[in-house]
Order: sequence, then C-alpha cells, then structure tokens
Amino acid sequence: MKKIFLFVIGFLIISSISCNDDNLDFQDDDSGFQVEIPDFNFQQTVVFENSLLSYNIYQGNPSNLLPSDDFLLLELSSILFTDYAYKQRLVKVPEGTQMTRLNDNSIDFPDGTILAKTFFYYNDERDTSLGKRIIETRLLIKESNLWNVATYIWNDAQTDATLELNGMDTQVSWTNSNGNNISTLYHIPDRNECITCHQSNSTLIPLGTKLRNLNRVVERNGASINQINHLQSVGVLNGFQVNEISQIVDYNSLNFSLEERGRAYLEMNCAHCHNPSAWEESAEQDLDFRYETPLNQTGLLDEQDEIINLVSEGEMPLIGTSILDQEGIDLIIQYIESL
Ligand code: HEC
Ligand code: HEC
Repeated sequence: MKKIFLFVIGFLIISSISCNDDNLDFQDDDSGFQVEIPDFNFQQTVVFENSLLSYNIYQGNPSNLLPSDDFLLLELSSILFTDYAYKQRLVKVPEGTQMTRLNDNSIDFPDGTILAKTFFYYNDERDTSLGKRIIETRLLIKESNLWNVATYIWNDAQTDATLELNGMDTQVSWTNSNGNNISTLYHIPDRNECITCHQSNSTLIPLGTKLRNLNRVVERNGASINQINHLQSVGVLNGFQVNEISQIVDYNSLNFSLEERGRAYLEMNCAHCHNPSAWEESAEQDLDFRYETPLNQTGLLDEQDEIINLVSEGEMPLIGTSILDQEGIDLIIQYIESL
C-alpha cells in the first residue's frame, strides 16, 4: 500500500515538474473539413519591390518600427485575431492627395496609397524591453484604381524583409502576459490567401479602414485626440463631422454590452468571408456577419449550435490562425447563448 502511495506521489511530482515550464504547443492538426479555395488570379497593377526597405516605411533602425514622416499610424478599435501577434498599421497617401469618406462610411483612397501592416511578437509580453521578433509586413498598394497585395518576411537580423508571394510557415515562441510559454507554427499567407479575405464583388479591398473602426481617441504628439480629427488636421482625410460616424466597439473591453462586443468580434474575424459580396463559397453560406446587418438577417439565430461547434473546434475562421482564440471563442459562445 505504502509503495503504491509513494509511487503515486512520485508520479505527481514528476508530472508537475514536467508541466512547470508551461510549454503549450498549439499546432493546427489540419483535421476537420477541407474547403478548396479557388485560384483567384485577380489583376495586379504594380510590380512589388524585392526589399521592404525600398518603400521607406521606417526611419532609423527598421526593427524599431518607427514610421517615417510620410507614414501615419492607424489604430483600430477592434482587430482581427492572428495567433496573438501584435500588429502595427500604417498608411501613406501621395503628397497633395487625400483619403475621402464614401457614403457607406468606408474610405476611398487615392492611387499611390500604401497600407502596411506589420506582425510581431514580444519575447516576453510582461516586459517589452526584452525585445521582439518581427515576422512579416503585409502591403496593400493602390495603383490604376486597383489594390495589389504582397507580404515581406523579415530576416533574422531584423534589418530588412524580402518579398514572398507563396507563403510559408515559421515556428514562433513567446511568453504571454500570464507567464506561459507559447509556441506555434505561424502561417505567413500566400497571395491567394490574402485575396480570399480581402475581396468584395471580386475586387481586392482593404478591410480594417472603415471610419467607424477608426473613430476613436488616440494619443498623438503627447495629446489625446479623435483619430479621424487627427487625420483631417494633418490634411490626409477630407472634412466632415465626426459625430456623423458611428463607432465599432473594442470587443475586448468589458465597458461595452455583450451584443456590441459579440458583433464587433464577428465583424472583424468572420464578416470578410461571411457577407453577400465575399467569395462564392463563403458568401453562399447565407451568413451575414457585418456589424450593421440587423440581427435577424445575420443567420446567427438559425446557426447557433453550428457556430459554437465550428469555432470551438477551430474549423472557423477557415484560414488565418493556427491556434484557438480562446478569449474570442468564450465571447462568441457567451453572446450566442444570450440570443
Ligand atoms: C483571414 C483573413 C485575412 C487574410 C488571409 C489576410 N488578411 Fe489582411 N486583413 C484582414 C482583416 C480582417 C484586416 C483588418 C483588421 C486588422 O487589421 O486587424 C486586415 C488588414 C490588412 C491590412 C491593413 C489595411 C486594411 O485592410 O485594413 C493590410 C495591409 C493587409 N491586411 C494585407 C494583407 C496581405 C498582403 C495579406 C496576404 C499576405 C493578408 N492581408 C491576408 C484579413 C485578412
Ligand atoms: C476565409 C474565409 C472564412 C472566414 C474568415 C470564416 N469563414 Fe465560416 N465558412 C467559410 C466557408 C468557405 C464555409 C463553407 C465551408 C464548406 O464548404 O463546408 C464556411 C462555413 C461556415 C459555417 C457553416 C454554415 C452552414 O450553413 O453550415 C459557419 C457557421 C461559419 N462558417 C461560421 C464562421 C465564423 C463564426 C467565423 C469567424 C469566427 C467564420 N466562419 C470565418 C469561410 C470563412
């Protein structure tokens, strides 16, 4: 009896030691249902440079991600989840041109606009002075009235990034704010995957630059200012009253209702595929998760169990993540169950 007891204690000690480093390894096992993504072959109107440095996005040491004077920071209230990566979003419009508000409160960008989105991980989220690893910078460039997409993969020295149209996987590891070591096989999308999400009516489009998602208070030059007012004051956005624009909430903030948070999450993580103008196979699911769609037209009331099952098993979103967004899934479940 005593021997068995000691054996059990020993086992508990050994297993607790091996669990102690909290090495959570999330890998996409690629199980579940397979959806064939078509070859979109959208027309491209620019030839992308081979080196990211050619675009003069950063000043000083590129790895500091300090934007050069031509590039302005864009901050979104709600964001797309990508394996807990941190993201920096920048915009540059050609000298003397402006972005303009469209009737549906999206933005019309002038030819020559560059939108840049950089993905990185802090080595330890609890202490950002311990450094970071920049993975990729995705570009959207508008030319001849069409958007072009490409991503650039940063080198190990973090001095530059190189054009990559075919995508690749890279192992990333970091310590999160709870002190857990996380590691995953991060997927850098190929161009066809970019287009899968970034399209409407078979045309490439930006996804985050809707005025209601930019309508928030930000810090600029040491002061708090509404972001839309700031863009107007530096001359890159046309004039209109900010109070005409609604606001999408930050789905991570408990200051807002479950309904607003749930809908914001679906807007940013699902609606690019689940809306009537998305690519065929996802549009024909008859789900419309856009923020402004009335609840009874979203499909949320008919597909409650299906949605909970698919997000919990990591089947949805279809592409763009390799690990589960546990906080996001909890939010969706809470929201759906409240309906
Ligand atoms: C899983 C869907 C998905 C894929 C795949 C994807 N994106 Fe995006 N992308 C989004 C969403 C949603 C946003 C806006 C939300 C955000 O930035 O968090 C966005 C934002 C961006 C932005 C900032 C400007 C904007 O649209 O708001 C750029 C630039 C960008 N993506 C480029 C790319 C490129 C290039 C690729 C392929 C290498 C790519 N994206 C792949 C969904 C996707
Ligand atoms: C990159 C595009 C894409 C994204 C992002 C995406 N989906 Fe889907 N979704 C699809 C496609 C394509 C199908 C159809 C799959 C098939 O053919 O079986 C689908 C199917 C579904 C279905 C099944 C519908 C039915 O009638 O059976 C649900 C529910 C769903 N998605 C929910 C979501 C949710 C919730 C999110 C966000 C967390 C999401 N999807 C994000 C592309 C996407």
